[in-house]
Amino acid sequence: MLDRIFTPFPTLTTERLILRQLSIDDDKEIFALRSDNKVNKYLDRQPSETIEDARRFINKVSQSIKKSDLIYWAITMADKNNLLGTICLFDFSDEKNKCEIGYELLPDFQGQGIMKEATSKIIEFGIRTVGLEEIEAFTHKDNQNSTKLLEKFGFKKSTEPDKTNPDYFIFTFKTSTGQY
Ligand SMILES: CC(C)(COP(=O)(O)OP(=O)(O)OC[C@H]1O[C@@H](n2cnc3c(N)ncnc32)[C@H](O)[C@@H]1OP(=O)(O)O)[C@@H](O)C(=O)NCCC(=O)NCCS
Repeated sequence: MLDRIFTPFPTLTTERLILRQLSIDDDKEIFALRSDNKVNKYLDRQPSETIEDARRFINKVSQSIKKSDLIYWAITMADKNNLLGTICLFDFSDEKNKCEIGYELLPDFQGQGIMKEATSKIIEFGIRTVGLEEIEAFTHKDNQNSTKLLEKFGFKKSTEPDKTNPDYFIFTFKTSTGQY
């Protein structure tokens, strides 16, 4: 059974980053992320078309966190409050002690090891606080940056593509075998 009470919100810190709760004041950055062609390239989602879409998304995330359906962090540098990416755990299975992970960075902040730092903290949180034994990531077959990130933590790629969406592979991290 997983321990997924996310109130009060678990703000986390790493060497360079603060992982904090998303706020309606992040609307411009969420819009930038969710409407960016480079960020969206390998993501199976409807891009945001207006700032209102972004605000609706932020409100939906807040409600889902209150219901403990998911946990979603805004990634910021430790000395600045502006959102530069996000990372989340969702689709929890209490029976299998597992969930899915998702993440994205604005293009200006990619290639600096920021997601590696954030992911390390979230895996630690997932294992130690939530009690996860397994974390999955669905990644497009051509998404090399995401694949490289997952492999750094010992996520293992499925031998076959996902049945419902053959462009995607499932990567699985297990506490028993993951490099953590
Ligand atoms: C997936 C994604 C988050 C990866 O971001 P990233 O910045 O490449 O990931 P990392 O944090 O691991 O950074 C790695 C890069 O930073 C470089 N780097 C620079 N300074 C570093 C440091 N201090 N520590 C570690 N790496 C550093 C590494 O060399 C590496 O670059 P390389 O790929 O050219 O070798 C990003 O590509 C993205 O947002 N994509 C769009 C959204 C998406 O597809 N999400 C996946 C959903 S499944």
